Amino acid sequence: MPPYLAGREAEQQEFQRLLKQETILDNMVLTGLRGVGKTVLLERLKPTAIKEGWLWVGTDLSETISVSEANLATRIITDLSVVTSALTLNAGTSEQVGFTATPSPILQPMNYAFLNRKYEETPGLVVDKLKAVLEFVWSILKQTDRKGIIFAYDEAQNLSDNAPKEQYPLSVLLDLFQSIQRKGVPFMLVLVGLPTLFPKLVEARTYAERMFRILSLSQLNDKDRRDAIVKPVQDAKCPIKFSDASVEIIADLSGGYPYFIQFIGREVFDVWIQRLTAGVETAIPVEEITRKLDTDFFTGRWARVTDRQREMMYVISNLESCDGEFSVQEIVEESAVVLSKGFGNSHVNQILVALTNQGLVYKNRHGKYSFAVPLMAGFIRRQYD
Ligand SMILES: Nc1ncnc2c1ncn2[C@@H]1O[C@H](COP(=O)(O)OP(=O)(O)O)[C@@H](O)[C@H]1O
Ligand SMILES: [Mg+2]
Repeated sequence: MPPYLAGREAEQQEFQRLLKQETILDNMVLTGLRGVGKTVLLERLKPTAIKEGWLWVGTDLSETISVSEANLATRIITDLSVVTSALTLNAGTSEQVGFTATPSPILQPMNYAFLNRKYEETPGLVVDKLKAVLEFVWSILKQTDRKGIIFAYDEAQNLSDNAPKEQYPLSVLLDLFQSIQRKGVPFMLVLVGLPTLFPKLVEARTYAERMFRILSLSQLNDKDRRDAIVKPVQDAKCPIKFSDASVEIIADLSGGYPYFIQFIGREVFDVWIQRLTAGVETAIPVEEITRKLDTDFFTGRWARVTDRQREMMYVISNLESCDGEFSVQEIVEESAVVLSKGFGNSHVNQILVALTNQGLVYKNRHGKYSFAVPLMAGFIRRQYD
């Protein structure tokens, strides 16, 4: 968690609204580039939900690149059992031997073994078995004053259907929630991931389009980026203070991306602490920080691209819209200007596919492309300058 979580009020309000739903019609997708602040916002939403009477389960899916349906089921039951194991149900009474014995209730905790048995005993497909488990859990849970359960999955862009292997975990997940929500079970999905996530959901199940409220995180605005820089050092005991000019430089360098704000903020703080002479503000070492950022953040990704791919990325970095969206056509045209030998249409397409697979660009729903890494274009131009 950052020392101060700046902005994101609108997103938190929207989440509050989703928590008010009696019947779940809207689930949530929280999406944005790497480092934009999805995970820490999710962490912030958790106590909100719990305070409103919801249970919260879930995990980070980064390790499960291609899960099978059975893996997904294990995942859900495991996550669920963490919160349900505290609940017990009455599984009949035991007769005790002896004159004074009174029958005592057998209390069965809803732990993993119990839920898993429920799963195994239910006939049918994975989705039917999971439905039975979730509906059963709700039949018990609704006797308490809980509003429902939030199922929160970070890095959810890693969930995939795998047709050649006939494994459809992503579709199973969507079918499952669609079906139980229709029956009035208040279990809500919160999926967090890169911009590829939502198109992937819609590709798996077209109804996903209507099932999710999408919150896209982008750069922090001017006020919020200032807050993110200034508030952590506001404490009277903090030896470092930033002048307005310094704040401006850090904010500009960061492009408003939270990851870069934290990275640059820490660098500046470390350098200043070392140079600290009472009351004198040293300058921000812009060049050194930029070089460090390049080495730590960009160089590794750049090293994995071929010369031809680099050339095309350079062409893109010269486009006016390089930090936003660009089309194949724009790249083709710009390449004729920038390079001695430009790229053809099919070549550009081919390279874009390769770069997409490497996670460097992504295609949005309107067929346009963007860099998947913030501030990438500036880095590329620095390599050629
Ligand atoms: N709203 C914010 N204000 C200040 N710092 C933030 C904010 N959001 C994220 N950060 C910081 O930015 C970095 C990246 O955040 P993270 O949630 O890991 O991004 P993501 O999950 O989108 O890749 C972390 O160091 C985090 O503390
Ligand atoms: Mg994250």
